[in-house]
Amino acid sequence: MNSKIVKIPGSRVEISPASWRDLNAARQLEKICFPQDGWPILDMIGVLTFPQTVRYKATLDDNMVGFVAGEIRRIQSTAWIATISVHPDLRGEGLGSKLLKLCENEMGMPKIKLSVRVSNQKAIEMYRRNGYVDVGRWENYYKGKEDALVMEKLM
Ligand SMILES: CC(C)(COP(=O)(O)OP(=O)(O)OC[C@H]1O[C@@H](n2cnc3c(N)ncnc32)[C@H](O)[C@@H]1OP(=O)(O)O)[C@@H](O)C(=O)NCCC(=O)NCCS
Repeated sequence: MNSKIVKIPGSRVEISPASWRDLNAARQLEKICFPQDGWPILDMIGVLTFPQTVRYKATLDDNMVGFVAGEIRRIQSTAWIATISVHPDLRGEGLGSKLLKLCENEMGMPKIKLSVRVSNQKAIEMYRRNGYVDVGRWENYYKGKEDALVMEKLM
């Protein structure tokens, strides 16, 4: 799979491919960014190791400050954004959108889908700005019985 290191001009943040070596850092970032929706460790190991999965991390001075993973479903000509997060101290500067675009482009599928808590306005706005539209709703999908908004982007 294509992998690249992306330097962000004017910033010390660097984006590079993630691997199983990043398991602990990814779990720590997840705890901060998804206090309600932590994954079982096996799911995290899965996105860091499975073929057909693209994953990138953003690092600042060797600390993980961002993470994205996307799963390619070639038979359906679709990819799913499995997770995306940016450390609260670095939000609002375009890092989330950069991670998203990099993942989308590398997955190389004509259609990208994702699900998000209906209350997660920040994430929904980021997705809309990046070309995603609402295509469905899964009732009671998340812990606490919150619905998921399903969004889709045609590349
Ligand atoms: C969702 C999430 C990944 C967004 O990350 P982010 O790095 O803040 O995303 P962006 O910076 O690309 O966009 C967010 C905001 O920054 C603004 N922004 C983007 N680029 C910018 C730039 N270059 N300069 C200034 N502001 C910018 C955007 O306008 C946007 O503002 P708004 O939310 O007020 O409309 C982050 O909020 C997060 O980790 N949330 C918790 C985990 C989560 O919910 N993940 C999604 C689950 S489906």
